[in-house]
Amino acid sequence: MRVTHSELVISAAHPAQFPEPRLPEVALAGRSNVGKSSLINRLTGQRHLARISSQPGKTRQLNFYRINRAFYLVDVPGYGYAKVSRAERQRWGRLIERYLLERPTLRLVLLLVDLRHPPTADDRTMYDWLAYHRIPLCVVGTKADKLSRGQWDRQVRQARETLGLPGDVPLVPFSAETGVGRDELWARIREQLEDKRESRS
Ligand code: GTP
Ligand code: MG
Repeated sequence: MRVTHSELVISAAHPAQFPEPRLPEVALAGRSNVGKSSLINRLTGQRHLARISSQPGKTRQLNFYRINRAFYLVDVPGYGYAKVSRAERQRWGRLIERYLLERPTLRLVLLLVDLRHPPTADDRTMYDWLAYHRIPLCVVGTKADKLSRGQWDRQVRQARETLGLPGDVPLVPFSAETGVGRDELWARIREQLEDKRESRS
């Protein structure tokens, strides 16, 4: 997909700040530092659209990026970052949960896991939760450039096993450095955006 227009519409800290649900949305979820912002930049070809964090856990809002005035990519705060208070974590948890469960325009969640390592307990919890709620899902294995091509298959197999992914849930190796996986990801996104259903229920 060619991105001709992209903009950060709002960083929402409360559901009241979410944009009007008029366009379909693709959300990105994953541990802090897994590469969500980098993926947005690579996917859109806009190197500075999403801020790459030097300090993990910095993204505390849901960032709504409008792409080609046609849909939103939504950057969800990363989980699994220890250095925040319990109260703060609970606040994010509620915000994310409300977004993922109540957003009528949500079409797809990209769940990012680091392809170099087996998915963590947090990754499994997130996957189980999304699967339980039947949210359409594509798993993305990030930082694939840090592995040799020959290691991919084993890492993909291990990630699928650890998460317990059924065969119909895709896992796409991806690199924000090289752009590998970009075309496949766009194809998955387009597939869900073109799905004419108005809502998930
Ligand atoms: P939070 O916003 O804190 O949740 O992090 P994030 O998931 O948005 O991660 P971000 O995109 O900020 O990337 C974290 C670090 O990983 C940065 O130093 C990136 O440069 C690096 N990184 C992200 N993707 C890749 C990748 O595909 N390859 C390599 N080699 N590094 C990557
Ligand atoms: Mg980020």
